[in-house]
Amino acid sequence: MFSRLVRPTLISARSFSTTKQNNAKVVVAGASGGIGQPLSLLLKQSPLISELSLYDIAHTPGVAADLSHIETPAKVKGFNGPEHLKEAFSGAEVIIIPAGVPRKPGMTRDDLFNTNAAIVRDLVQAIAEHAPKALIGIITNPVNSAVPIAAEVLKKAGKLDPKRLFGVSTLDIVRANTFIAEAKGLNPIDVKVPVIGGHSGVTIIPLISQASPAVSFPPDQLKALTERIQEAGTEVVKAKAGAGSATLSMAYAGARFAVSLLRALKGEQNIIECAYVLSDVTEAKYFSTPLVLGKNGIEKNLGLGKLSDFEQDLLKAAIPELKKNIQKGEDFVNKK
Ligand SMILES: NC(=O)c1ccc[n+]([C@@H]2O[C@H](COP(=O)([O-])OP(=O)(O)OC[C@H]3O[C@@H](n4cnc5c(N)ncnc54)[C@H](O)[C@@H]3O)[C@@H](O)[C@H]2O)c1
Repeated sequence: MFSRLVRPTLISARSFSTTKQNNAKVVVAGASGGIGQPLSLLLKQSPLISELSLYDIAHTPGVAADLSHIETPAKVKGFNGPEHLKEAFSGAEVIIIPAGVPRKPGMTRDDLFNTNAAIVRDLVQAIAEHAPKALIGIITNPVNSAVPIAAEVLKKAGKLDPKRLFGVSTLDIVRANTFIAEAKGLNPIDVKVPVIGGHSGVTIIPLISQASPAVSFPPDQLKALTERIQEAGTEVVKAKAGAGSATLSMAYAGARFAVSLLRALKGEQNIIECAYVLSDVTEAKYFSTPLVLGKNGIEKNLGLGKLSDFEQDLLKAAIPELKKNIQKGEDFVNKK
């Protein structure tokens, strides 16, 4: 079943249908950032979008003016500052959130948590007020805690629909596909690896035993590949040497996920993506597994599938860490 993970078509150059019928308003919240700008550029190329609403607290008019000259139908509007949240969010069908501070040397995880937790809380509060039916994709780290924060805010506002809230873990899948294709000399376009669990370190569980096409590795290589997928974010942070974390590959992954949501909204069948969602598949209240997407968000959770012994051990290691991260997010909203 995992072999049905679908790749979106991001770029159709000038072969766009100009009809706006049924096409969606999409918001990028944090649109001026390292992820936000290339993500908005990729989304501007999607024929499924009629309005691309760019929200940030800085530089949005310039980013919007720049993107608005591109010869595609999506109408670009820029909104700068919280006084414009209502206009930016109202009527949105999909809202993707890459707002926040990226990891930098010298920054503790708690510094990152406190700043980004407050940003996610305030943006999701605005979604509850102005676009409660939107499908929400959270890119902001730490995703493992940010999604529970969003859910608690929506719950308090009486607007939580667990089918519409997603933590975007697509970059883990994108990396797993790339690294396994490299190791086996395959075309990465043909490789599909489900990655389940959470979105940091040991909570990232690549299911290489369920890869399509089927691949196998000796134990030491399997362990090394798994660890590389789990620590791939740090690989980029180190290589950028103080200039931030993954932005371009994340923009690609965010666009892939957003376009999958849009295709499902349009009624396309068999759109499957892994994402970090409210879940009863394991003991962790939030967990990423392959999901069938539909017009109302999650149509069906496809669960874990059959895990190898190696993957069972990864799952055991992930659950306590995930539970801690989830609790931290919930406490941030409820203990204030
Ligand atoms: N999910 C993933 O796989 C993944 C991968 C890489 C990075 N990230 C995370 O994505 C986030 C953004 O990373 P980046 O490199 O683009 O950072 P960045 O600093 O380049 O951009 C962040 C943007 O958010 C904006 N912003 C800050 N507060 C805001 C608010 N209240 N409302 C709207 N916009 C606001 C900033 O003005 C800036 O434009 C970080 O939290 C990073 O850790 C997630």
